Amino acid sequence: MTRGPRLRTLAAMATIEPMDGLFLYCRPGFEAPCAEEAARWVRTRGGAVDCTARARSGYVLAANRAGTPVPVPGFRDLVFTRHGFRAVARVSGGPVDAAGLVWAARPSPGDGWWVGAPDSDAGRPLWSRAAALARQLGATARARRRRFHAALLGPEEAVVGVGDPRLDGPWPMGIPRLRLPAGAPSRSARKLEEALLVLLDGRERDRYLKPGATAVDLGAAPGGWSWLLARRGVVVTAVDNGPLAPAALDTGLVEPARADGFTFRPPRPVAWLVCDMVAAPARVAKLVGVWLGTGRCARALWNWKLPGRDPLAELGRARAALARELARHWSDAAVRVKHLYHDRAEVTAYAERRGRARKPAPRNRRRRR
Ligand SMILES: C[S@@+](CC[C@H](N)C(=O)[O-])C[C@H]1O[C@@H](n2cnc3c(N)ncnc32)[C@H](O)[C@@H]1O
Repeated sequence: MTRGPRLRTLAAMATIEPMDGLFLYCRPGFEAPCAEEAARWVRTRGGAVDCTARARSGYVLAANRAGTPVPVPGFRDLVFTRHGFRAVARVSGGPVDAAGLVWAARPSPGDGWWVGAPDSDAGRPLWSRAAALARQLGATARARRRRFHAALLGPEEAVVGVGDPRLDGPWPMGIPRLRLPAGAPSRSARKLEEALLVLLDGRERDRYLKPGATAVDLGAAPGGWSWLLARRGVVVTAVDNGPLAPAALDTGLVEPARADGFTFRPPRPVAWLVCDMVAAPARVAKLVGVWLGTGRCARALWNWKLPGRDPLAELGRARAALARELARHWSDAAVRVKHLYHDRAEVTAYAERRGRARKPAPRNRRRRR
C-alpha cells in the first residue's frame, strides 16, 4: 500500500515512492524462512504482506497489502530477522544521496539515523557508501529522538524507514562488532557472547551469570563456551570426549569430564546447561527438555543445527519436541530463539523454566489379567 504520490528530488533526480511495510535484514540464503515467518506472524495478527525475498540478497521487504497499518513484530518474535524497521519509502532511479533520504523520511532536528546495506555479495560493497551517508546525516548509533533507517540496495536504490522499538535489534544491520577476546580457545566464544547479549537482557545477565554460578557445557571442546563462562566466574563442568584447550583449563574454573553428552548426569542440579553438540535438532530438544523439566538445570542455552532445505519447518519440529518433553514434567517455560550473526546453518536458543512441576500422573492400579 502506498501513502501518497511519487516525488522526484531535484538534487539527485531519484524517485521517492511512499510505501508501508517492513524491511528485514537476514543472513544471505535465509530469505525464504525470514519471509515466511514474518508473513505468518503478520497474518496471525490480522494483517497481510507481500514479501520480496530474492535469493541470497540478505533482506526481505514485506509490503503491506491490508487497508490497516502493518502490525510490527517484536525483535524476539522473528527468529530469522537480524534487525528490521518499518519501511516508509523507496528511493530509486537516481543516485541515493543524503538529500533524497531526508526528503523521504522527513526527520526532525535531533532524530538519529542508521544507514546500512545487506550482508550479501551485492550489499557489502555498499557499506562504505552507507557509512559516508551516515556521516553526512549526522547518524548516531544511539537515536536521540526517533531513529530513521536507510538500507542501500544498490547505488540507485534504497528503502527508507522509521525505527520501531519493538523491532529494533541491538546493532545496525544486526551485525555485532564483537572482537574475539584474546586467549579464547575457539571462535565459538564470540557466538556465545552474542547469544548472551541477544537472548538475555542486562538484568538477566547480571542475575544469572554471577561468580559462583554453576554450568554444564555439553560438547565443550575445545572450550570456547566454557572459557567465556569461566571469565564471568561461572564454575563449569565441560563434557566432551575430545580434549579441552589449555586456556580453558587454566581458568581454574573449568572441570573436564570425558563422557557422552547424551548420557552424562550432573551429581547435583546446576544453574545452566549449555550445549553445542552437533546432533539432530529433535534429539537435542529432547535432551534439553529432560534437563529443564526434571530440574537438572534452571536455564539452558543451546544450538539447533538446521542444515536442511526448510529451516523453518525443522525449527518447528524441534520446538514441538522441546515443548512435548518439557510438558511431561513442568507447567511452563520461556523459550527464545534467534538466528544470530555468528550462526550459520543453525539457530541459538535459550529457555528457562517458569511455573511449577507437574504432579506425577496417578498410577494405574488395574492389574493385568
Ligand atoms: C562445535 S564443537 C563445540 C565447540 C565449543 N562450544 C567451543 O566453544 O569450543 C562440538 C563438540 O561437540 C562434541 N560432541 C559431539 N557429540 C558429542 C557427544 N555425544 N558427547 C560429547 N560431546 C560431543 C564434539 O566432540 C565437539 O568437540
